[in-house]
Amino acid sequence: MSAPRTEEKYGDSVARFATEASDSIVEGSKPQGYLAPFNPTDVTAQQAALSMLGLSSEDMLYDLGCGDGRFLFAAFLSVEGGLNCIGVEFDRIYYERCLTTLSTIPPAQDKVQFHHADVCTTDLTDATAIFVYLVPAGLKLIQEKLHDCLRRGCRIASYMFSVPGLTPVKTDSTKGGCKVHFYDSSSLGVGGE
Ligand SMILES: C[S@@+](CC[C@H](N)C(=O)[O-])C[C@H]1O[C@@H](n2cnc3c(N)ncnc32)[C@H](O)[C@@H]1O
Repeated sequence: MSAPRTEEKYGDSVARFATEASDSIVEGSKPQGYLAPFNPTDVTAQQAALSMLGLSSEDMLYDLGCGDGRFLFAAFLSVEGGLNCIGVEFDRIYYERCLTTLSTIPPAQDKVQFHHADVCTTDLTDATAIFVYLVPAGLKLIQEKLHDCLRRGCRIASYMFSVPGLTPVKTDSTKGGCKVHFYDSSSLGVGGE
C-alpha cells in the first residue's frame, strides 16, 4: 500500500484548528487599515481559487488577511512537495491559531510563514500568486498594491468581491452562489491600467 499523500495525512490538522467566524478585534479598536472582519473561505471556494491560481512548487503565495491560515494550508497540501506561502494577519488571535496549526504539519514548517502584520504596509514584491477575501472597502484600500503586483506578473484570486479597477479573466460561482474572481496582467487593460 502506498504512503498517504501529504494532503490526506495532514488534512485533519487543518480541520481541527479551523475556527468559526468571530470577529476578535473589538469594536472601537480596529486599526486604520482594517480590511475585513474574520470570516473563513469555505472549502468549495478554496478549491475554485486554487484551480484558478494553478499553483506550482515554484510559486510564492500570499494570503492577505489570512485569518486562521486555512487557505494557505489547503494550498500547501494541494501541491506535491508543497510551495512557499506567506500569510499576513493583523489579529493576534488568528495569527496564533495559524502558528498552532503550523506546529502540527511538519512538512509545512520550512515553507509556510505567518507574519503578524498589516497588509497595507507589507512588501509584496516577491509574490507570484495572491489570495484575498476582503470587503470592498478593504480591497479599495489596497487596490494600487494589487495592481502593482499584476504589473509584475502576479496572479490574483479574490473570493466574494471583485478588485476595483480590474477586469477579471474569469469568474466562477461556487455552490452557494458566491464568486471567485481571477486576475492576471491582462486584467489591467490597455496601457497597463
Ligand atoms: C474575511 S477574513 C479572510 C480569512 C482568510 N483569508 C480566509 O479566506 O479564510 C479577513 C481577515 O483579514 C484580517 N485583516 C483585516 N485587515 C487586515 C490588515 N490590515 N492586515 C492584516 N490582516 C487584516 C482580519 O483579521 C481577517 O482575519
